Amino acid sequence: MPKEHNAAAPLVGILMGSDSDLPVMSQAAQTLEDFGVPFELHVLSAHRSPRLAVEYADSARERGLRVVVCGAGRAAHLAGVVAAHTNLPVLGVPIDGGPLNGVDALYATVQMPPGIPVGTLAVGAGGARNAALLAIQILALSDERLAQLLGEHTQSLEDGVRGKNARLQELGWKNYTRKE
Ligand code: RP5
Repeated sequence: MPKEHNAAAPLVGILMGSDSDLPVMSQAAQTLEDFGVPFELHVLSAHRSPRLAVEYADSARERGLRVVVCGAGRAAHLAGVVAAHTNLPVLGVPIDGGPLNGVDALYATVQMPPGIPVGTLAVGAGGARNAALLAIQILALSDERLAQLLGEHTQSLEDGVRGKNARLQELGWKNYTRKE
């Protein structure tokens, strides 16, 4: 019998290889919070705490999680190890840090062998935000509220571009300064 799903229980697990990844991975947390998606956030390392990482992945589905987002830097194996131990969708965020500034983490995360997929996002904070949005899109396949919110999100992006273009037309390119 499938377990009844508790609405307040985390649907997305955000994992990071170190607390030094938090400034990047907090973008994923913030995005999930903005959409009202329950999530949990943990520091778990594929290298420094391999047993904990495997235990987490092994129990993720039965605990009610639907997607796992993993951020790690350097020789980033967290997403791969988690993907090897669960059949939930695993999204990987290469963290920009260390001497190679995330290129190492990108290669380690994206180059999974055939059979064990990791959906790899862009390097750094933008990737963390997109990982959360992709997780929300997966959840929205069976959640009308989230589908509606994603539609509003898309509209807000278009509104932003329209606003910038209107300002550019009004001020001209010589007077235009970018607002964050
Ligand atoms: C990786 O090593 C972590 O994901 C982090 O990005 C990087 C450095 O970790 P710390 O030395 O800052 O703990 O495993």
